[in-house]
Amino acid sequence: MRKIIVTGGAGFIGSNFIFYMLERHPEDRIICLDKLTYAGNLSTLAPVMDNPRFRFVRADICDRAAVNQLFQEEKPDIVVNFAAESHVDRSILNPDIFLQTNIIGTAVLMDACREYGAARFHQVSTDEVYGDLPLDRPDLLFTEETPIHTSSPYSSSKASADLLSLAYYRTYGLPVTISRCSNNYGPYQFPEKLIPLMIANALNDRPLPVYGEGLNVRDWLYVEDHCLAIDRILEKGRIGEVYNIGGHNEMKNIDIVRLICRELGKPESLISYVADRRGHDLRYAIDPEKIHRELGWLPETKFAEGIRKTICWYLDNRTWWEEIVSGEYQEYYKKMYGKTDEEMQ
Ligand code: NAD
Ligand code: TYD
Repeated sequence: MRKIIVTGGAGFIGSNFIFYMLERHPEDRIICLDKLTYAGNLSTLAPVMDNPRFRFVRADICDRAAVNQLFQEEKPDIVVNFAAESHVDRSILNPDIFLQTNIIGTAVLMDACREYGAARFHQVSTDEVYGDLPLDRPDLLFTEETPIHTSSPYSSSKASADLLSLAYYRTYGLPVTISRCSNNYGPYQFPEKLIPLMIANALNDRPLPVYGEGLNVRDWLYVEDHCLAIDRILEKGRIGEVYNIGGHNEMKNIDIVRLICRELGKPESLISYVADRRGHDLRYAIDPEKIHRELGWLPETKFAEGIRKTICWYLDNRTWWEEIVSGEYQEYYKKMYGKTDEEMQ
């Protein structure tokens, strides 16, 4: 039996990973460590709360005493660190918490791994650490050798955590692996991110705010394929290595928004071009050759299928996102887009 601490498991990818692992690995025990920030929702984990192989602990990964206490109690074999402040726009509004959670929190977790002897620390990172690629060079892709060259406070904090993780591997011999994944989409994604924001606004006949001209390109991966890739890395990945994860699925933002309008039967007149994001990365595109060659990983869900499943999920789970778009989110929305959702009605 493996004991796995999953940090940030009440968020989008972490919760999908917990569901995936409990189902695929009936021998594992999962302990979720999450602070429950605005992005973490305990309601997401309701289906597994009573599972005897699951434990939820509310704590901040920056809280050394709380982290050490949990590690002492559980003596985990593996730690997978999803916990992070994850939204670029929020990092532009207020970088400070990004530095705390994403950098200091990662160091606190790795110190606990050293102290209590975890056999693996896996850092969940992002392709954003590579900066961006030009729009007119489709031949260029991010490999693991691409230099770190960040644009936003978010990506800089993630890059810092990657460098610290590699330093802990080299200096202390901590058994670290790192994955750098492209943009994820799927169930339980907080509606501040492009795809769920557009689905939620379209369903409410509200404006669809597209930054700039909507020509920026992202490389989209269905969240379950990301979970599968991390599972492979935990089983067969080489210690001290970085693995890029992506599915050769580049799309312009505007094409995604148009597709969501089509799927929901909503008019494109809802699209509203707004001021561009500061420092907006033009294009992300992952070369996933290493993880394919070494670990045999390939994405299983095609975009056409994944986006339909995702839209259906948001249609079937309205209460999940309607509850979280109230409160703090309304304040953020006002700061970010000028008006609250209610005022736009
Ligand atoms: P998310 O914002 O949906 O969830 C983050 C979770 O971390 C929340 O449950 C939150 O409560 C928790 N958390 C935040 N600060 C914490 C702290 N100090 N202590 C404990 N818990 C804390 O994020 P996500 O989209 O699920 O991303 C998960 C990870 O994957 C992040 O590290 C992110 O950088 C990385 N990533 C995300 C994407 C993407 O497209 N979403 C792509 C590549 C990598
Ligand atoms: P996002 O989901 O925030 O992910 P990231 O910036 O980490 O890639 O944004 C994806 C793309 O969509 C990005 O180019 C910014 C753009 N975008 C909009 O045009 N409008 C929006 O309201 C949001 C949230 C994003």
